[in-house]
Amino acid sequence: MFKIREYCDDDLNHLQKVLSQPSNYQQTFQLPAPSSIKLKQQVSAFLARENHFIFMLEHIDHKKVIGRANLYCLEPPRHHSARFGFNIDEDYQNIGAGNALLEELINFSQNKLNLKKLVLTVYTDNNKAINLYKKFNFREDGLIRKFAFRDGKYVDAYHMSLELN
Ligand SMILES: CC(C)(COP(=O)(O)OP(=O)(O)OC[C@H]1O[C@@H](n2cnc3c(N)ncnc32)[C@H](O)[C@@H]1OP(=O)(O)O)[C@@H](O)C(=O)NCCC(=O)NCCS
Repeated sequence: MFKIREYCDDDLNHLQKVLSQPSNYQQTFQLPAPSSIKLKQQVSAFLARENHFIFMLEHIDHKKVIGRANLYCLEPPRHHSARFGFNIDEDYQNIGAGNALLEELINFSQNKLNLKKLVLTVYTDNNKAINLYKKFNFREDGLIRKFAFRDGKYVDAYHMSLELN
């Protein structure tokens, strides 16, 4: 049902569409409606760095890109760890796409990069993402009070992590 591959230039429009959707920018610490010029610069700068990756998730039957994830390895002395974030198109949430993408991120980190730990930050009210992370045995490492300013007020977040084999 899903195919996961690395980012290519044709994906920029999709990226801009997804990051302009309220559930996506509000839950991933971004401002609304990123311009395509800025986004292109951000993507180029991100991918130019060593061990920084962007993956795209395609719905095979619909021949459509429906999600993306970024993952980057941390620098020494934290080089056993990587940080990641991901978004699924609002029209395609709740059909297992996030599950498939997270499964691949864990597999890639463990079996291709030989990493020992995945870390992330998630708003405390993002129940859907937190449930998904817990399903894959991520645990909460700590609460960050007033992590970001969203819709006129400060919002708390959790640090979460998964130790890999
Ligand atoms: C969070 C997100 C990545 C999940 O992806 P998804 O494709 O919608 O989720 P899936 O269909 O793969 O569901 C995976 C799990 O999420 C949890 N989940 C799904 N819908 C949920 C809901 N409405 N409430 C609580 N948990 C829910 C469940 O644990 C589910 O597993 P299950 O079906 O075995 O019970 C996606 O909704 C998204 O992009 N949200 C906006 C951006 C975001 O929050 N990114 C993460 C920031 S840290």
